[in-house]
Amino acid sequence: MKYLAQLVGTAIAILTYATPSTAVTSQVEYVTPPKEVSCACRKLALASPRRIVLPGSNNYTTQATDSYWDIRAALSPACVFLPNSADEISTAMRIIGSCDAPFAVRGGGHMNIPGSNNIDGGVLLALDNFNQITVTNSSNTVAVGPGQTWYDVYSALDPYGRVAVGGRLKTIGVPGLTLIGGFHYFNNKYGFAMDNVISYDVVLGNGTQVTATRSSHGELFWALKGGGGNNFGIVTRFVLRTFEAPRVTTTIQVFNESAVPGFLSAVVEAAKLDDGEDTIAAGMVATVTYNTTTKSVSASLLGVQEGASMPPSQFANFSSISTVARNNVTTLKEFAATLDTPMQMFRIVFVHKTIKADAEALISIYEAWREAVEQISDVEGLSPTFVPNVISPAAARVAKSNGIGNVWGLEEEPLIIWQFSTGWAHARDDLRVESWSRLLSERLHAINQEKGIASEFIYMGDAGEWQDPFAGFPEENVARLKTVQRSYDPSGVFTRLNWGGFTLSV
Ligand SMILES: Cc1cc2nc3c(=O)[nH]c(=O)nc-3n(C[C@H](O)[C@H](O)[C@H](O)COP(=O)(O)OP(=O)(O)OC[C@H]3O[C@@H](n4cnc5c(N)ncnc54)[C@H](O)[C@@H]3O)c2cc1C
Ligand SMILES: *[C@@H]1O[C@H](CO)[C@@H](O)[C@H](O)[C@H]1NC(C)=O
Ligand SMILES: *[C@@H]1O[C@H](CO)[C@@H](O)[C@H](O)[C@H]1NC(C)=O
Ligand SMILES: *[C@@H]1O[C@H](CO)[C@@H](O)[C@H](O)[C@H]1NC(C)=O
Ligand SMILES: *[C@@H]1O[C@H](CO)[C@@H](O)[C@H](O)[C@H]1NC(C)=O
Ligand SMILES: *[C@@H]1O[C@H](CO)[C@@H](O)[C@H](O)[C@H]1NC(C)=O
Ligand SMILES: *[C@@H]1O[C@H](CO)[C@@H](O)[C@H](O)[C@H]1NC(C)=O
Ligand SMILES: *[C@@H]1O[C@H](CO)[C@@H](O)[C@H](O)[C@H]1NC(C)=O
Repeated sequence: MKYLAQLVGTAIAILTYATPSTAVTSQVEYVTPPKEVSCACRKLALASPRRIVLPGSNNYTTQATDSYWDIRAALSPACVFLPNSADEISTAMRIIGSCDAPFAVRGGGHMNIPGSNNIDGGVLLALDNFNQITVTNSSNTVAVGPGQTWYDVYSALDPYGRVAVGGRLKTIGVPGLTLIGGFHYFNNKYGFAMDNVISYDVVLGNGTQVTATRSSHGELFWALKGGGGNNFGIVTRFVLRTFEAPRVTTTIQVFNESAVPGFLSAVVEAAKLDDGEDTIAAGMVATVTYNTTTKSVSASLLGVQEGASMPPSQFANFSSISTVARNNVTTLKEFAATLDTPMQMFRIVFVHKTIKADAEALISIYEAWREAVEQISDVEGLSPTFVPNVISPAAARVAKSNGIGNVWGLEEEPLIIWQFSTGWAHARDDLRVESWSRLLSERLHAINQEKGIASEFIYMGDAGEWQDPFAGFPEENVARLKTVQRSYDPSGVFTRLNWGGFTLSV
């Protein structure tokens, strides 16, 4: 048992690196906000005095600092509004629009793009109170508020033996992940999180409330499938499709440095798997971690497969080269419960590019990363990881064949998203680590472009703040998004005032 606990501990340490750093206070000093913001904060306080949080209180620290995974995302809003209902958000949008005040919206707070989910000197709308969740067993759906995490969703569905397609770890927020796309273990059978949303309740920039479904506000419905947060409205309720999966088989495996090329080849083979009608839902979190103490790397696999067959067949290529492996039959809820990612963990930047599924290319990208990590090995608190994610042909097929589609418009081809996820300790190293990430990824991407194996697809959940995911979507889809934006937010409340994160340019 102790051995098992250590193994799980290792995998989690690999995922989450070290212990969370001690809480830091925001570095930006509170200054008198501009008159547009004072106008909005004053009117919000008059409209709903019990929902306003101002600087100087414990609640303010919770909202401005402690609710973000990335330390860099802690900022200093002039006031925080915590609405309890869609009507209160509607009132808030009217006030914000009439005062012309800059604002930000936060769901689960996991996006590590400073300014995407928080704001200096503006209004922060925090969705914590939207924690309603209703399972409808007869229609195989679950209605979820944007204050929920994926663990909340899996827990609610667990008694029914069902799962939703959401985040792979415990504490990721429902709204951000669903609006940007959503990588889950079962993408290869059911598509992405966005492909399984049946309806969205939305508050528009002018405060009007609409429900977008396939048959009502169909263009908005489509745009919310991968078009990101911040661009069309605030979603106050998602209705998600659920799937039968009363039992899952899980596998946690660890690999030594010499096994890493084989590990990456197995990831590429997994991306290529395509069994059509006979597809077994299965997927993973695959991570290669550099240990700054030992100056060596190791890899880890967290795999989940539907059903109760042991060992899980879809991970056989990994099992044959892992140094330690532990399989279990459990539920998705129980597995997710062990994979926490605490708030304010460290400063951390992501960057990713995409390639066609090619093992040789993936291994050479890894080798270049392995060598380049040495250039920043003196950065205090460094936690460098190389993370490949797969997009299998069947995952893209769902949107191609459901008559709805999504914003990504991917072809049915196996792709690998290769990501550098790099954590560090101090603000003094921000520019250095960001620049390292950016230059290395761009150099390697250029090589792949030259070889004709690059894809320009960018996933908002794995990207750096300087990357432009919209440039990687099909041009006609971006034009269609802009049409939706003009028709649902004609006065540009989101474009002008909610400018953080991955915003669609006008
Ligand atoms: C440790 C970790 C693990 C991850 N694992 C996965 C994974 O397994 N699969 C995957 O696909 N992604 C994963 N991600 C990426 C993750 O999906 C994104 O960071 C996502 O944005 C998180 O959602 P959130 O609600 O926590 O985000 P937030 O940071 O709260 O919000 C993200 C963006 O969405 C906007 N937004 C939030 N709520 C709403 C709303 N109700 N209406 C309109 N806009 C809104 C915000 O303004 C912000 O721009 C992971 C990220 C981390 C840090
Ligand atoms: C402030 O925090 C307290 C204690 O956690 C909580 O009960 C209260 O609802 C919070 N206030 C607001 C406006 O969210
Ligand atoms: C959900 O519905 C199924 C039939 O569709 C039934 O077998 C099951 O018992 C129900 N579960 C609960 C918890 O009501
Ligand atoms: C790095 O290796 C050392 C020595 O084996 C170990 O104590 C430490 O926990 C490792 N660090 C991580 C983040 O795994
Ligand atoms: C395992 O790898 C082989 C190629 O070496 C491939 O044909 C097979 O599909 C892979 N199996 C799985 C389950 O990934
Ligand atoms: C690393 O793992 C491989 C199996 O993939 C094994 O053959 C090799 O002996 C291991 N090396 C060390 C140093 O443990
Ligand atoms: C295996 O699954 C069971 C059932 O969910 C759970 O009680 C147990 O803790 C799991 N074991 C490990 C090592 O995760
Ligand atoms: C709000 O905007 C929507 C979309 O442009 C429009 O249909 C609606 O009439 C507007 N409502 C008000 C009250 O202006």
